Amino acid sequence: MMRWPLLLLAGLACVLADLPENFEYATNSFVSDFVTSPVYPSQDPLPHVVHSTIIKHLPDQDLTVHLVRLTNPLLHFHVYPSLTGCPGRNRTSDNAQARGCFIAGNAGFFDTHTGACLGHVVSEGHLVQLDAQMHPSLALSRTTQRWAVGYMNEVDIVPQGQNLVYDEVVNGIGWLVREGQPYLNTSQSAEKISQAFVNLFAPRMAAGHDINGQFLMLEVDGLESANLGAKLTVMTELALEYGLYNAINLDGGGSTTVYMEGAVRNRCCDKCAAGHEAEHCPAGWDGACQRAVTTILCIR
Ligand SMILES: *[C@@H]1O[C@H](CO)[C@@H](O)[C@H](O)[C@H]1NC(C)=O
Ligand SMILES: *[C@@H]1O[C@H](CO)[C@@H](O)[C@H](O)[C@H]1NC(C)=O
Repeated sequence: MMRWPLLLLAGLACVLADLPENFEYATNSFVSDFVTSPVYPSQDPLPHVVHSTIIKHLPDQDLTVHLVRLTNPLLHFHVYPSLTGCPGRNRTSDNAQARGCFIAGNAGFFDTHTGACLGHVVSEGHLVQLDAQMHPSLALSRTTQRWAVGYMNEVDIVPQGQNLVYDEVVNGIGWLVREGQPYLNTSQSAEKISQAFVNLFAPRMAAGHDINGQFLMLEVDGLESANLGAKLTVMTELALEYGLYNAINLDGGGSTTVYMEGAVRNRCCDKCAAGHEAEHCPAGWDGACQRAVTTILCIR
């Protein structure tokens, strides 16, 4: 992780963020509103991870929850675009194996027709894309050793004429928990999220950090066509119950994937693409496949 100091020594002319030539900042379309807090400071070279599978009994159904805690995210939490960048799609497990991730999860929303990534994407200190949307980012800065969560404009990620502030950034839809308080109601109006999206019983993925700055990934299994899974209100309650201090909702539904040590661990649920039926997930719903997605969360 000597990259930043070395780059800074390399001379100011070439350290400005690697923005595309002629890049123009969008005029801010919203007022930035995000919170920052310290990342757990451990620089241990090995990731410390706990994966738990929890059966949560709710009045209407039993939910299977995968909770992953990475106690030392500073050096070990990453966001990766597809192996061909953005746009582009890979199955979470293929991307994770190629990147050497020990654990991975699907991450940002995307355009299923074009494979375009939605929202900001920064990976290992490299800017993949800036796309300011009134949806929350989850961002980690190794230089300031801080998490940032919330509504971030382009200049919050890369101030004009300066370097990237954050090394890993991905966007979700729905800010579930803000500094320990439920925030879904406020974010639903701020982001203009439909009630249908909130109320959908679906497999879901959320991520964030606890009050000590440790990373948490929270997944709930489900099957939309059978009304199984969690509404966003339930995701918010689970996030609070498991100690997420800031949490955003990531892409869910058929994209929902938890990969760990060579295998998909959640009950994957996407319809197999024509000709790919043989690639169904052994632990998935009958004959279901993993969906190819644009970005992943990776622990390595
Ligand atoms: C990732 O996706 C690209 C584009 O679809 C494909 O060419 C490549 O083979 C995929 N890589 C893996 C490891 O699946
Ligand atoms: C959010 O809104 C719903 C519906 O209006 C309400 O029942 C619930 O109590 C609200 N939650 C919070 C934390 O304000």
